[in-house]
Amino acid sequence: MVNKILAPDDRALDEEKDAEPVIHHEPKGFSDRFALGFTKLLRVCADTFFAKRYGHRAIVLETVAAVPGMVGATLQHLRCLREMRDDEGWIRTLMEEAENERMHLMTFIAVAQPTWFERLVVQLAQAVFYIGFFLLYLISSRTAHRVVGYFEEEAVISYTLYLKEIDEGRSPNVPAPAIAIHYWKMPADATLRDVVLKVRADEAHHRDVNHGFASTLAKLPPSPVPSAPYPPHATELRGAA
Ligand SMILES: [Fe+2]
Ligand SMILES: [Fe+2]
Repeated sequence: MVNKILAPDDRALDEEKDAEPVIHHEPKGFSDRFALGFTKLLRVCADTFFAKRYGHRAIVLETVAAVPGMVGATLQHLRCLREMRDDEGWIRTLMEEAENERMHLMTFIAVAQPTWFERLVVQLAQAVFYIGFFLLYLISSRTAHRVVGYFEEEAVISYTLYLKEIDEGRSPNVPAPAIAIHYWKMPADATLRDVVLKVRADEAHHRDVNHGFASTLAKLPPSPVPSAPYPPHATELRGAA
């Protein structure tokens, strides 16, 4: 693989500004503190397991990140059926989030290959996390969305660190995989750095959407800060690879 380091260009600058990791939801009450504590615990686990292997970290964590949207969509769908009411757009938003996270996974799998041990961790983590998150969402959907909001805050920080690794030459700034060029509608000469900027912008948007859902469920006033902009994505995923 060519280990060439490409400089950031102008098209990256807006996204760097837009997705700056400045947003942090101050926890209010037990639900928020539980969500933040749980997130920090998982962060320590991820930091211990992966250290600075950001490509591998992205693959394993994206397999987890794609779970909450599908769980939330399922349980919101069932709740709307039971209560015979409109979902106010939540179900499609959550399904789209799950799809977006799966595309992050498909992108990074084209950049790095997980070890057999990481594949085993993914199998176990999915079983535990799916069941755990499903139960949490049943008990408190507000806490579940706050957990995702905090997960996404951490994801923005992790991808900012990945950018630093690329910029300082520790991770090669290889050409962007074809699937990423298709999905984010990027120019043919896009690089891994451009991809990480797009992924980080997606995570910043998920962060704000999920904190917004949690605040709505907690009947808190809406955030004065608008959601981070969501990059445009291809709607037709077939043929993207
Ligand atoms: Fe992601
Ligand atoms: Fe995310």
